[in-house]
Amino acid sequence: MKNQAERYLTPFFFELLRYLEQGKTGFHTPGHRGGISWGDGWQPEDLLRIDLTELSGLDWERAKTDAERLAAEFYHADQSFFLVQGATQGLHASMLGCFNPGDRVFVARNCHSSVYNGLILADLYPIYIDIDYVPGWGLPEGVNLAALQQAVKDHPEAKGLILTNPTYQGIATRVNAIRQVIGDRILIIDEAHGGHFEWWGKPDYSAFIAADLWIQGTHKFLGSLTQTGFLHIKGPRVDLGRIARSLQWISTTSPSFVFMASLDLNRAYLAGEGRTLFNRSLEQMTELKRSLASLPGIRVLQDGDTAHGERIVDPWRLSCSWLDAGLTGYEVDRMLREEYNIQAEYADFNQVTLLCPPWQPVADLRQLAEAFQRMACRITGEKRRFPLEFRMPVGPVEIAPRKIAFAQTRTVTPEMAVGCIAAEVIAPYPPGIPLVGPGERITAEMISVLRDIQTAGGTVRGMNGRGEIKISCIEGNDD
Ligand SMILES: Cc1ncc(COP(=O)(O)O)c(C=O)c1O
Repeated sequence: MKNQAERYLTPFFFELLRYLEQGKTGFHTPGHRGGISWGDGWQPEDLLRIDLTELSGLDWERAKTDAERLAAEFYHADQSFFLVQGATQGLHASMLGCFNPGDRVFVARNCHSSVYNGLILADLYPIYIDIDYVPGWGLPEGVNLAALQQAVKDHPEAKGLILTNPTYQGIATRVNAIRQVIGDRILIIDEAHGGHFEWWGKPDYSAFIAADLWIQGTHKFLGSLTQTGFLHIKGPRVDLGRIARSLQWISTTSPSFVFMASLDLNRAYLAGEGRTLFNRSLEQMTELKRSLASLPGIRVLQDGDTAHGERIVDPWRLSCSWLDAGLTGYEVDRMLREEYNIQAEYADFNQVTLLCPPWQPVADLRQLAEAFQRMACRITGEKRRFPLEFRMPVGPVEIAPRKIAFAQTRTVTPEMAVGCIAAEVIAPYPPGIPLVGPGERITAEMISVLRDIQTAGGTVRGMNGRGEIKISCIEGNDD
């Protein structure tokens, strides 16, 4: 250590305290809002005291089995598993536990990066399914059913489908429509942002209606601690023992009891109060969205905006576009943070998204509404900007992602990469959907979309500091 005094510094901890001192009003993940979503059967000091481990005098195994059984009953599963390594852990265990190396699986193109990593771990061969986009927003809204039907015809050998429902912006699809298309194949639903649709009368949009396995990242919105979630399983298609084994392969041997207790408390709270809370706050959220949408220059994402009319938007997710008032999502995000002390969840060029769980204090919602009104008054509305809307071309995967992951690679300019095999995901924001996946052959159309997005001001992940992308030095699965 160069400077001896440095040994006493705690830069990470200090930064967290510095952030907290600003007293920002948060509309983001995690959704627990300081533990409101755990009811009142606990005390803050309990959290340190219950940080125990697998002690001989502690009947933790029975307690965990009981707690997982109660979760399964509540979420309509045959079996539920606590997750302490995020929704990612459940996705990876599902992929490892349902398929065999080399299997072909349908993968909705808007899946989260954890699914792309899961393809590498489980050595699966993806057949990407194109998705629909919300017109005028450029947001992914769900799997394109015609593309899925075609894929099922073209690839009868595919063993299952992995998709995200609802989307990050809360757009939900009726899951039975998907089940009808894929028949008896395994259906894995990434429900990281869902779990609550049933409680306000929309069960048809919930994974449990049709999925064999579904994964909830309950820390994101439903209110358990960061890193926690559930893997739920239902029906005869899944080998429970294999899933349990797969979970073991990728899990820590020291799961946090604090995390698991938060899952237990949160489930009990929602089982007791969930329906009442969600139904009571539904009207409030509808009214908030209606009043914000009436401000000049502001659009609020709502039912009816989607390309596919049956889709609905989560009332507790607020996605707004200020482009008609001349502001990008990035600019609105910065203004909210710096001028109104409000922290949003996510922003891209087109829009900004805020999370408002039903236990969000009413004063916070008022603060948000006032901030929007003040911002709308200040903005002249003269400047006009248009949403970045791009369809991401989807190509066939020519080399398995796992093979690519361990192959030699090199970096080249995007133009030089045309005709080569991509070694990594390249994902522009917006819309945050991979333009190219690992193992996919890069086309001139893909690069033209990439350049259009950059020209229009979008950001791209998967390029190095020199604007280059990684391609594979091997050309085929047998190289
Ligand atoms: C749709 C979706 N799935 C999975 C994940 C991964 O969840 P986690 O961070 O809990 O592992 C995320 C994270 O943002 C997500 O948005």
